[in-house]
Amino acid sequence: MTDKNHSIDRRNFITSTGKVLAGSMLTTTAMGSFAGPSAGRKKRVALVGTGIRGVRFWGRDLVQNFSDSVEFVALCDLNPGRLAFAKEYIGVDCPTFTHIDQMLAQVEDIDLVMVTTDDASHDEIIIKSLGKNISVVTEKPMTTDEFKCTAIQEAVENSKGELIMAFNYRYGLMFTSMKEVLETKEIGDVVSVDFNWYLNTYHGASYFRRWHGLRDKGGTLLLHKSAHHFDLLNWYLESDPVEVHAYGDLEHYGKNNAFRGEKCRGCPHKKACGDYHWDITQDELATNLYVNNEHHDGYIRDNCLWREEIDIFDKMSVQIRYANNVIVNYSLTTYSPFEGFRLAFNGKAGRAETWEGIPWLEQAAIDQASIYEKEMGLSSHSARDEGVQEINIANNFGSHRRIELPYVRRAHWGGDPILNAHVFKGIPPERNVGQKANFRDGAMAVLIGVAARKSIDEGRPVKIEELTSLKPQARRIKA
Ligand SMILES: NC(=O)c1ccc[n+]([C@@H]2O[C@H](COP(=O)([O-])OP(=O)(O)OC[C@H]3O[C@@H](n4cnc5c(N)ncnc54)[C@H](O)[C@@H]3O)[C@@H](O)[C@H]2O)c1
Repeated sequence: MTDKNHSIDRRNFITSTGKVLAGSMLTTTAMGSFAGPSAGRKKRVALVGTGIRGVRFWGRDLVQNFSDSVEFVALCDLNPGRLAFAKEYIGVDCPTFTHIDQMLAQVEDIDLVMVTTDDASHDEIIIKSLGKNISVVTEKPMTTDEFKCTAIQEAVENSKGELIMAFNYRYGLMFTSMKEVLETKEIGDVVSVDFNWYLNTYHGASYFRRWHGLRDKGGTLLLHKSAHHFDLLNWYLESDPVEVHAYGDLEHYGKNNAFRGEKCRGCPHKKACGDYHWDITQDELATNLYVNNEHHDGYIRDNCLWREEIDIFDKMSVQIRYANNVIVNYSLTTYSPFEGFRLAFNGKAGRAETWEGIPWLEQAAIDQASIYEKEMGLSSHSARDEGVQEINIANNFGSHRRIELPYVRRAHWGGDPILNAHVFKGIPPERNVGQKANFRDGAMAVLIGVAARKSIDEGRPVKIEELTSLKPQARRIKA
């Protein structure tokens, strides 16, 4: 498919998109940067939710790389054992709290609360912190239903604090590069999108072992996982969604299996479960965080994949119509033989397409089990893996060319540290294409997921306007 005559390397690509880059750099201020540390003192931050995302990305990574601009003033988690371990693991000496109310009452002058609790509890932490006029940076999804979304909107409107959405995918090399391609208008105005996301049997299964498997904790994967993808779509298309029609079902995990146990540890079905069996005791960090503290709250991290209580979908297909009339076909698969995606934009003048992880298109063999760790891994998030990723651009009348990007998979396509620099040091990305995200961005991603869930439940297309007072705009309102 590569048209050698037209293929260009990364340096040339950056040169060829230089106009766009220069333009976006010029508008950096207009697009807004997150407030940097107050003059003369470090940003006083409090972390709420000391699970895996909290202790690594928002915890240890900040201490190791951003302690010149960040000072931890509190850690908070409902689980006292996990909290104690987190304090040691992150390497801080601040007070700890087992409830947000205690933390907000006792710690003075917090500049920023970081929210890394389970998805359904984000709203409580966000609203209480904004209520004290403290800024908040929250993990995706911003929340799990439309009512909580409205409550957060009221809190944002009544607070002097800022709500920052930590949409790290926007900062990843692959996704930033696609945004730059679309902004060149080489393929003309986009009219439709094909987007398929594949979670492999390791990563996909991991969601069914714990709270993500319950709607009232994670809102279904249409919120928990797809919020990343829906946000990318909103950002790429620069428009708001207006209508969603979806199908979905639970056909593999949960009640579908012939047998089930209590948890992987000591399970009599270990052999029958085959590669789905997970020995958590082989993972030191997971053992310290979860196994050693499950007596406090009953949070079993290696829960059975076949639990009857699982009530989310494991296959999902979603159609979205945007206010600018772009139509999206999206799907999410949770037990794929490989981890990856296909993403293509059809424009009036051509098509831009990329993919990742599809073994028969890859030149190197892929270890499926290691991909999830690589995605989350922070120890070497600046290190590059071997190989390239590609964006193919085809003109409607024949010519096509291939853009090659260095293959970066660690720390969410290399986006996590760039997001951190933006939020905690006020340094916008070198390739600033409007990655900053706020309440409205968080809400629009959530509302697509909520509409899709509702559409599946009620068997009808759902209008975004039905859900909250937010009015979809043909031109997205930027942060
Ligand atoms: N952006 C990304 O790429 C990315 C990656 C992983 C996780 N996440 C997000 O991070 C968040 C945390 O995920 P995780 O995998 O670390 O989960 P986790 O289960 O490991 O940790 C969640 C922690 O929150 C605590 N908690 C729950 N409710 C609380 C409350 N009301 N007050 C205080 N503590 C509370 C739990 O005890 C637990 O320690 C989720 O929202 C998830 O979507 C984002």
